[in-house]
Amino acid sequence: DKGNHRHFMEKEIYEQPEVVSHTLSHYIDFAEGRVKLDSSQIDFANLDRLAMSACGTAYYAGLIGKYWFERFARLPVEIDVASEFRYREIPLSGKMAALFISQSGETADTLASLRYCRDNGLTIGAVVNVRESTIARESNAVFPTLAGPEIGVASTKAFTCQLSVLAALAMIAGRARGTLSSEDEAAMVQALVELPRLSNEVFHAVQPQIEMLSRELSRFKDVLYLGRGTSFPLALEGALKLKEISYIHAEGYAAGELKHGPIALIDENMPVIVIAPHDRHFEKTVSNMQEVAARGGQIILITDEKGAAATTLETMATIVLPVVDEIVAPILYALPVQLIAYHTAVFMGTDVDQPRNLAKSVTVE
Ligand code: F6R
Repeated sequence: DKGNHRHFMEKEIYEQPEVVSHTLSHYIDFAEGRVKLDSSQIDFANLDRLAMSACGTAYYAGLIGKYWFERFARLPVEIDVASEFRYREIPLSGKMAALFISQSGETADTLASLRYCRDNGLTIGAVVNVRESTIARESNAVFPTLAGPEIGVASTKAFTCQLSVLAALAMIAGRARGTLSSEDEAAMVQALVELPRLSNEVFHAVQPQIEMLSRELSRFKDVLYLGRGTSFPLALEGALKLKEISYIHAEGYAAGELKHGPIALIDENMPVIVIAPHDRHFEKTVSNMQEVAARGGQIILITDEKGAAATTLETMATIVLPVVDEIVAPILYALPVQLIAYHTAVFMGTDVDQPRNLAKSVTVE
């Protein structure tokens, strides 16, 4: 049932404040202001590396998780798309655990990667949305995303719930490994508490602007997404979302890679969507924006109030979000990114919930 929404995708986008909050409460004791250590059966304190693998959007969630595990838990992460991971013959040791991320819990390559790790004796954790799935069944520890059934083929709420679980696990690992101070933990929990309310505010603030902007975007054949830090995987996710439902060619790049190739493509016909909260990467991303502007590229900037105040560059649109802690930024910034893809596709009249050639669950290689 789509309720008042035109598509399942729209319904699922707007469900995110609720399902993210539901998912977080499984891992975080909001009253105590701390993560629930006993919600993880992985012995993070005694690992020297974590292997992660997934496909598509779930892989991008994992990439963001890698930044968090490495920064907050000082735990090195080996991550690759499952179709490569399963054949790379990655050397695995007993001091590693493996984490697989999958909405459906049935993705063939992800399952094969899981079995490879299991056969090498690793403890297996799974971040899954379908609790009764094969991947859940074959794991030692299941970390559920409580997104509810996701019907739209393009993943939205499963993605932000995966990020929520990975944020909590990175904090749990940080505490277990003694690398996350209780003050930092409390500040991050507080930021996560406020996330659902902020998400609703963001929807209200940006929806009309994005709907208008999407009409303009629909005229283009190519779109480039740029970001640094955790905004880089989000740029990849933005490009994936746009291409799969609007069929506009889109690419995501680490902003610092711009001058290593993609800048050759920049002209007035290739708008550039820049995801740049005012974080420690902001200044560098602004220089990349200047390089784009100098070549006639049109910029759509997704930033926060500080970032908007700090740049005078002319943009096609500046989408302004509230200033948030870095642990919640990718979850909050996912919302405008999803809405851009959604409204562009709706405007172009594509089958948003059932894009051509795609299946919700990919159970063959
Ligand atoms: C993109 C999308 C896909 C899935 C991928 C993995 O919007 O939905 O890229 O993320 O097929 O699927 P799961 O998470 O079921 O393993």
